[in-house]
Amino acid sequence: MIKWHKLDTELPEGEFVKQIQIDGKKLCLARHQGQLYVVQNQCPHAGGILSGGWCRNGHLICPIHRWEYNLDTGRGAAGQGDYIRIYPIEVRPEGLFVGIEQGFWGKLFG
Ligand code: FES
Repeated sequence: MIKWHKLDTELPEGEFVKQIQIDGKKLCLARHQGQLYVVQNQCPHAGGILSGGWCRNGHLICPIHRWEYNLDTGRGAAGQGDYIRIYPIEVRPEGLFVGIEQGFWGKLFG
């Protein structure tokens, strides 16, 4: 079951990548080419902090070794063989909401 959390942070103008905290989790929030994305904050390669990275051509770039992750699918670039978790978001009149999986699946993949 997904629980929706309202984001209490002001969103900067234009393109950005920043760390947010929701339900005790540090996540990475980005706006790229007019779209908002929420993804895991830790790089699966070697633990880099993805919110310290940047976006390019629909990908989030890790600042440590510059591995790339597709912002729509979470898939790593060819040859990486990894992926990042993408969190569902909803833009509602009262603000931006992020969906976090609860229970067993949330613990496993959250
Ligand atoms: S830690 Fe992210 S690319 Fe290596």
